[in-house]
Amino acid sequence: MPSLHWNGKQRRDPQPARLTLDSVIHPGGLGYPQEAGDLVESPSNRLYLGDNFVLMSSLLDEYEGKIDLIYVDPPFFTNRKFTARIGRGEDSRKPAEWQLAESYGDSWNNLDEYIQFLYDRLELMHRLLSPRGTLYLHLDWHASAYARLLLDEIFGPERLLNEIVWTYHGPSPIRSAFNRKHDTILSYTKSDAYTFNADAVRVPYDQTTVKTFASSLKAGFGKVPDLERGKVPEDWWYFPVVARLHNERTGYPTQKPEALLTRIVLASSNPGDLVADFFCGSGTTPLVAARHGRRFLACDATFRAIHTAKTRLVRQQAQPFALWADKEQPVGDTSPFNFQRVDRQVTLCSENAPAYWELDPHWDGLTFKSFAQAPLPLRSGDLLRSLPLPPRVGRVCIRVVTAEGQQSQIVLE
Ligand SMILES: C[S@@+](CC[C@H](N)C(=O)[O-])C[C@H]1O[C@@H](n2cnc3c(N)ncnc32)[C@H](O)[C@@H]1O
Repeated sequence: MPSLHWNGKQRRDPQPARLTLDSVIHPGGLGYPQEAGDLVESPSNRLYLGDNFVLMSSLLDEYEGKIDLIYVDPPFFTNRKFTARIGRGEDSRKPAEWQLAESYGDSWNNLDEYIQFLYDRLELMHRLLSPRGTLYLHLDWHASAYARLLLDEIFGPERLLNEIVWTYHGPSPIRSAFNRKHDTILSYTKSDAYTFNADAVRVPYDQTTVKTFASSLKAGFGKVPDLERGKVPEDWWYFPVVARLHNERTGYPTQKPEALLTRIVLASSNPGDLVADFFCGSGTTPLVAARHGRRFLACDATFRAIHTAKTRLVRQQAQPFALWADKEQPVGDTSPFNFQRVDRQVTLCSENAPAYWELDPHWDGLTFKSFAQAPLPLRSGDLLRSLPLPPRVGRVCIRVVTAEGQQSQIVLE
């Protein structure tokens, strides 16, 4: 079988690290323990902040062979640096309301380095997948041909399920070639007994097909399709890019549309299954997974990405989740904002406001247990200035994140 070779090709041993439980988030108080002081177990839905090679190595003990669906959208080998829009970054028609900030890098010394980076991680993903699991690897023309050979080597060429082409529109500066307006998503299964819920992703037949069958039932090579039930989609998909979806846009660069992830999650997992994304960026995969009753693991190397994912999950209020990190997170202990506690609520008194704040009504000095949260609403509306407290309260700790991504906390004694 042909295989891919590059300078420095090697099989890297896993490098597990001790992970730290930073916080447990109960969106809108959901699932918060009734009794003060009750131990909060870490929910099975998890966000991880850190390098995904270390993280996946650390997950092997608990999750080897247990993840039912992995979708990953790694850097594409564009040799670019991406910036995020912070503030009201989701609305490009109001440039006064956002500014640019550093996001993530996709710069490499050479192609060998990039291919080795993918190879290391795809091997771990293969180990983590359950016997009925599927991996979707989202890339574009820069590297998908190399990735296909890597996946053939790791999974076996017979495990290629689909080469999906996602097409979209958008402006382009290119005048010397056709505009590059599609991505390639390679899907590979762990075995031939994989999950594929065709009925969950059917779409209506085209009007021309409906008309053809209305005039002649024999048109389909002797088979009459069930026009009411719709058809299983082809392996080329059209969904608008997020730049055109103002209701979804978080300001995080290269954010993928929820519709794309919805099709993947519904087709290749069942309610209760475990869905993972180890390059989660703004958190589209965990968001869609939680919406459809799947459990999720999601990782990203940057605080900005994980914080964006966290606020999206908080806004959706679907399930409690935990935030883990591969090292202790720096949390400033002086806050530029003032808060006051009056009766059963805490109020932000400063005139200036952060981008996000939340409170733990029983701060134990170790794991932040978030009972109430105030994320900046997407598109319109102001940040909540008061949050409720539960009936019994201990030491109240308030965590604040600024638009620039600075996190700090203060304790109201
Ligand atoms: C293309 S973006 C993912 C966008 C995401 N699908 C979404 O809908 O927002 C790639 C992400 O991979 C992350 N990343 C790059 N290298 C990583 C690593 N070694 N470990 C974890 N995350 C990494 C980047 O920070 C970036 O957020």
